[in-house]
Amino acid sequence: MPLRPKKTLLIGVAALAALVTGTLPVVNAAAAPSPTISKDPFGTLSDGTKVWRYTLTSSAISVKIITYGGIVQRLDAPDRHGHRTDVVLGFPKLDDYVAKNNPGPYFGALIGRYGNRIAKGTFTLDGTTYHLPLNNNGNSLHGGPKGFDTKVWSATPVKTKNAVGVRLDYTSPDGDMNYPGTLKTSVTYTLSGSSLRLDYHATTDRATVVNLTNHSYFNLAGEGSGGIYDHRLRLNANRYTPVDSTLIPTGQLAPVAGTPMDFTKATPIGARIRDGFQQLAYGQGYDHNWVLNGSGFRLAAEVGEPTSGRVLKIYTDQPGIQFYSGNFLDGTLYGTSGRQYRQGDGFALETQHFPDSPNHSNFPSTVLRPGQTYRTSTVWSFSAH
Ligand code: GLA
Repeated sequence: MPLRPKKTLLIGVAALAALVTGTLPVVNAAAAPSPTISKDPFGTLSDGTKVWRYTLTSSAISVKIITYGGIVQRLDAPDRHGHRTDVVLGFPKLDDYVAKNNPGPYFGALIGRYGNRIAKGTFTLDGTTYHLPLNNNGNSLHGGPKGFDTKVWSATPVKTKNAVGVRLDYTSPDGDMNYPGTLKTSVTYTLSGSSLRLDYHATTDRATVVNLTNHSYFNLAGEGSGGIYDHRLRLNANRYTPVDSTLIPTGQLAPVAGTPMDFTKATPIGARIRDGFQQLAYGQGYDHNWVLNGSGFRLAAEVGEPTSGRVLKIYTDQPGIQFYSGNFLDGTLYGTSGRQYRQGDGFALETQHFPDSPNHSNFPSTVLRPGQTYRTSTVWSFSAH
């Protein structure tokens, strides 16, 4: 039975408070039946590896995650009338993800070892220079051609009284995509009420660099329903990192004030996207990292879609967020429900460290050393008004 929007919101807030504080959610048990988890086969790779799809369902939302790439394959969230729609871009079949997602849009995927770009695929750490495979205009993008988005992760279901989750593990061998160190990685997706939490952990046996994220594209009116330029976006950021023509940061932290990069107040994504601002010409739209205000776990972004009333709030402990307005979707891909995806049909908000941090000493460090644990969390919280 569809939830009334008000109830959805209340459950969302209570669950979010629990996620943030680590306490038990204060949720009316009668109103919110325990969430469930199930799995079904999602195809087999050419080497015989079976891929599974886990479905996490709460009273408010349902999310499907596949073991290939740790991909969020679909996410159904209610509108203001309680009607659920898939609000992430994706593909219907495993073969599509294998053939079209990398190089391609990275729909829903876990990105590693390094989210976004490293200039010329080169960085120096403790006196050694590393050369990564180049896969994007002479730079290295999203961990390379065989990044974490192409790996099959081992899955373990997690269940507590008020939450269900799936823990995904992948050990990246020393030298994988030319990155140093054996990187033991785990990412746990946890669903509670109307919030999905993403917890990333990693350890290494040699000094390395790490920047993990998830590359979901959202369309809060429903995937395949058209453009997202009318979605209203607010970013908790007074500055962004300007880029060169290959989308590598110049190293500056520039104020957004007075530019089309200013989302400090909720603004339709498309309102200024064709203003002729040089940064937007480089990315063919928004494809930039914003420097989040404050520190610790905090609200990073809020997006609202006026027709459905759906709202997505993103919380994170990361210093930055990449806002990408789906500029390179060009009509060649057909999504989960068979509809064509064109430019601006989805947007990504990737919580992260800044792109190319290993080459900018003024950016927060992405170095991970033996004995340290890389830990970061992001929450996507859905509601409808
Ligand atoms: C990231 C990049 C974009 C683009 C997409 C995938 O968000 O910043 O430039 O490559 O991934 O298409």
